[in-house]
Amino acid sequence: MSQEHNRILLWVLTICISSLALGVEDRQTDEDCADLNNTTWLEYRQQRVKLQVQYLLLTRRNLDCAQMFTQESLTDARQPTYFNISRPTKVIVHGYRAMGSKPSWVKELARSLLRAQDANVVVVDWVYGASFAYNLVVENYKEVALQISVLINQLQEHGSKLESFHFIGISLGAHVAGFVGTLFEGKIGRITGLDPAGPMFKGADTFDRLDPSDAQFVDAIHTDSDYFGISIPVGHVDFFLNGGKDQTGCARSRFVSILVYFPVYGYVICDHMRALHVYMSALTGLCPLIGIPCTSYEDFLNGNCLDCGVFAGTCPTIGLTENCGITVSPVPKEQKLFLLTSSSPPFCSHHILLKLEISRLDKSAEVEVTLRTESLGREQRLRLRTDTMVYKTVLTHPLSLCEIQTIELKNTGAWLYRQADVHVKSVCVSEFPSNRKEVPLCVNNFHVRRGAPWSHDFVQMRPAPCCQTDFHPT
Ligand SMILES: *[C@@H]1O[C@H](CO)[C@@H](O)[C@H](O)[C@H]1NC(C)=O
Ligand SMILES: *[C@@H]1O[C@H](CO)[C@@H](O)[C@H](O)[C@H]1NC(C)=O
Ligand SMILES: *[C@@H]1O[C@H](CO)[C@@H](O)[C@H](O)[C@H]1NC(C)=O
Repeated sequence: MSQEHNRILLWVLTICISSLALGVEDRQTDEDCADLNNTTWLEYRQQRVKLQVQYLLLTRRNLDCAQMFTQESLTDARQPTYFNISRPTKVIVHGYRAMGSKPSWVKELARSLLRAQDANVVVVDWVYGASFAYNLVVENYKEVALQISVLINQLQEHGSKLESFHFIGISLGAHVAGFVGTLFEGKIGRITGLDPAGPMFKGADTFDRLDPSDAQFVDAIHTDSDYFGISIPVGHVDFFLNGGKDQTGCARSRFVSILVYFPVYGYVICDHMRALHVYMSALTGLCPLIGIPCTSYEDFLNGNCLDCGVFAGTCPTIGLTENCGITVSPVPKEQKLFLLTSSSPPFCSHHILLKLEISRLDKSAEVEVTLRTESLGREQRLRLRTDTMVYKTVLTHPLSLCEIQTIELKNTGAWLYRQADVHVKSVCVSEFPSNRKEVPLCVNNFHVRRGAPWSHDFVQMRPAPCCQTDFHPT
């Protein structure tokens, strides 16, 4: 008996010692990893009183296995935590969950943040309070903020600095973050709003929504401001992607919006979720997503805003860089920034200004301008009127102007446009914002006849060393 007994004892001891030696890491098999909760309509109806806010912690030491993070985690030796008080803390706050499901992108965002910065990433899980009736959810958001502020207070007692907190709030989560900021009187380091929610917030007092007074620096990305997102600037800088309304590659079928609670949901929120995807992409640092200050999208598209003079020449960039790279002080508030993006990661695009000057026309006309490289072309149509002779427009190209080989003009006048011959005094293209002294590429004095496309080769016009300073991953 005693031999058997001893063997078992030894075995138990071995296990104890080895698990002690391996520490916390050893305990984290898959089942031990924390996850966001989800809720069903039935559960929701049965117990709608509690918000059940909980926190998940991800760090570089547990990238794939979230830890539950509670107020006791920092003091209770039985729940060892990876939270490191001397590191900055990113707090992710999700938004409205129509169907009560957990947001699937949270871990991807957390990982993108951790790849870019060695930080504590705390995910606020308030799925339970964020589900179903939107108006009730809006009632909950301040209570959620209040609960988060209790946690922040406790972390502060342990030595975390308020300025070391950076909240990243998606949709309604942006206003949750904003209210946490209000509770701390704007002393939190930074809040980033990813398409901050619009419905029920646009007309709201700044006390009730995200605004620049909520943190030392507030930046926001707008991608669906005509629908789920907010159309007004809410930060120090507000990036309006492709005008902030309709995103490239997202289907424009607004009529299905009535069916928002049904399967088409994912389809309809494409614009809204684009802010998140662009942000995650920006965190990789593959290419810069630069915003250009302008008063309106129309002005931007008409080529009236080409530089970042208000920022002393340095254009704000989406991502983690301090103050988005803005060096002027004080940082402007509610500055609208515009940029065009492509439809898929990494979303960066080159902004090209096209300027066309023609001789007076007798009849209206239409020309199609195409900028071509060996493998692809980007075209832009211009309606030419009899009363205007100078046209400016902004177009995007996946490649920089340096790599564009030819410019092509077609007189595409349909039966409505009868002008047979367009005399072009000059056509010029230039890339902006420009970080070097770049002269626009111009071609002067030619005719574009119907049915006879005109084209010009840029290659021989260029100074020899080209394409040196453009964004290529370093
Ligand atoms: C989710 O919430 C329910 C209460 O509604 C709770 O019983 C359950 O433990 C939670 N699950 C997780 C994974 O946190
Ligand atoms: C929701 O949670 C339940 C248990 O808490 C789980 O069985 C179910 O798979 C979860 N659903 C989703 C979509 O995560
Ligand atoms: C906490 O972070 C600091 C600063 O990055 C680092 O020097 C220290 O080693 C970390 N502590 C632990 C226990 O990882």
